[in-house]
Amino acid sequence: MEQLTLRRPDDWHLHLRDGAMLRAVLPETARHFARAIVMPNLVPPVVTLADAMAYRDRILAALPAGAAFDPLMTLYLTEGTDPADVAAAAASGVVKAVKLYPAGATTNSASGVRDLTKVMPVLEKMAEIGLPLCTHGEVTTPEVDIFDREAVFIDTVLAPLRRRLPELRVVMEHITTEEGAAYAAEAGDGLAATITTHHLIINRNHILAGGIRPHYYCLPVAKREKHRLALRRAATSGNPRYFLGTDSAPHVDALKEHACGCAGCFTATNTMPLLAHVFEQEAALDRLEAFASLNGPAFYRLPVNEGTIRLEKRPDPCVWPEKILSEAGPVTIFNPGFPVHWHVVA
Ligand code: DOR
Ligand code: ZN
Repeated sequence: MEQLTLRRPDDWHLHLRDGAMLRAVLPETARHFARAIVMPNLVPPVVTLADAMAYRDRILAALPAGAAFDPLMTLYLTEGTDPADVAAAAASGVVKAVKLYPAGATTNSASGVRDLTKVMPVLEKMAEIGLPLCTHGEVTTPEVDIFDREAVFIDTVLAPLRRRLPELRVVMEHITTEEGAAYAAEAGDGLAATITTHHLIINRNHILAGGIRPHYYCLPVAKREKHRLALRRAATSGNPRYFLGTDSAPHVDALKEHACGCAGCFTATNTMPLLAHVFEQEAALDRLEAFASLNGPAFYRLPVNEGTIRLEKRPDPCVWPEKILSEAGPVTIFNPGFPVHWHVVA
């Protein structure tokens, strides 16, 4: 029986939502993960330190009894964000990053940034105090093809921003392209990239070939196969610049299976078995701990977790329900389309 013991992992990019959905999805993450960087794209968004503290309290109140989970909060960057509030948020220790959504890029991004020059005072303050900027790295220009939006963002937004503010610490969230992986590999210590579970498993054929599969639709959208392979090489490389951010993003089935379906894959439940499967396929099981448990804390300048998680490879496939049930409706769990034999056993 093959076994694997890792430091307890963290999820460096997670959507927990609020209310009934929060109550349904939080136990799925808290079961395996000690901490998560919690995305602020609620309606209305989490913009100020006061918003983040109130949201953190709601998350802690929704935790199952006995669960130990530390939500690391983020602020949603708007053109009205006050640099002094961001500085106070960082000093409080509650807020660990600020999230840049280009306006219109994804779910609940309407309050995001249209003109980067308007947020330069905030970014300058963040550079000064070392607070990371998490970027949804896609341009929203309608003329740019959706499959090119990440590469164009790197060339036209990220690279110029980093030339202008080299001290700004940046996380390229959920990279999906070989260009994204290459940019992160060549950048200095002040930049890292998160990679999701699902982008290591699906390419765009999974979404579109043989019928449209809305539960594989997320943003940034999965790209062609060569990009998935580049992400696999990056994640399993052991390079400290890459770490896990699942972007687990629950939407009720009624809104996924819809004429205008929402973006998001829900992977909180089965990420750890899936990652063990992927890393074994890449002959890199010895690097899973770096990706899921070590590289993220190193970038965020936080201690690694004390606890551990144990996985075991068994002849019988790992079983998880097709859906979790929330009071808002069912949420389909990401289906990799193949059996997974790694079980989380402790
Ligand atoms: O697929 C996604 N879903 N990508 C995002 O950037 C946002 C997320 C969500 O909040 O649903
Ligand atoms: Zn996200």
